[in-house]
Amino acid sequence: MEDITNYEFTVFDEWSLYDQIIERNYMKHVEISAAVRQDLSPPSQIAEVWDLGCGCGSMAAKILSGWSVPKYTGVDVSQAGLARINTNLSSSASELCAESSEIVSFLERPVSICPSVILASFSLHHFPMDEIEKVLELIVKHMDAKSRLVWIDPVRQSHESREEFNRRFLLEISESWTSLTPEQILEVDEHITQYDFPLDPIERERLISLAGLHGQSVSYRDPFFTAEIFTRASAAE
Ligand SMILES: C[S@@+](CC[C@H](N)C(=O)[O-])C[C@H]1O[C@@H](n2cnc3c(N)ncnc32)[C@H](O)[C@@H]1O
Repeated sequence: MEDITNYEFTVFDEWSLYDQIIERNYMKHVEISAAVRQDLSPPSQIAEVWDLGCGCGSMAAKILSGWSVPKYTGVDVSQAGLARINTNLSSSASELCAESSEIVSFLERPVSICPSVILASFSLHHFPMDEIEKVLELIVKHMDAKSRLVWIDPVRQSHESREEFNRRFLLEISESWTSLTPEQILEVDEHITQYDFPLDPIERERLISLAGLHGQSVSYRDPFFTAEIFTRASAAE
């Protein structure tokens, strides 16, 4: 497992930078949230939402805006992110819960309810290849016939290595994320090189099938990011 103490330090260090990235819509939060929102509606079917690696809840806030779902639980190791959940999600959920926890530890806890929506937005790609299989397996254990997993992450193109993806992504960043200073670009570069493990599409399909997930809809896809909604395979058959 990744050194979470070290990870927390890195994210905390970069939090204002991530704010800037969201504000400028560099990671397509606007388009992705709009597409996912459409595929998740109507909100009457949503009782409880878990947001794994929620950060400050910005993606969830956009997806759930104004829906006032009964309960939202944001899970993260970043206190700085969790501290802003109340502000960002107060109009989106009646009950808000901020869980200061590593994702796997949270998923390993026994709970009596299955959430209607499990959101994993730009968080699962931080797990290296040898850990993501276990994370997906744990997620599926918490899903019932009505649960949906919304998985938003960078995905490699066919035959693209992790290094090739990261190089292509960093080129895009240096050309398009124009409001960032050279120092900030370097910070993003270091973060991506150290912490990002975007999946190869074939490996991703294998892991999805192994976990027992059934693709319900691809809400959004561009050359870097994919947002896909899953149910449990048995629930779809
Ligand atoms: C790129 S941010 C995404 C934040 C938000 N979900 C979004 O879409 O904007 C990734 C977040 O995942 C959290 N994270 C990454 N790995 C984690 C882990 N193993 N356990 C808990 N949180 C984790 C980080 O702390 C960070 O807040």
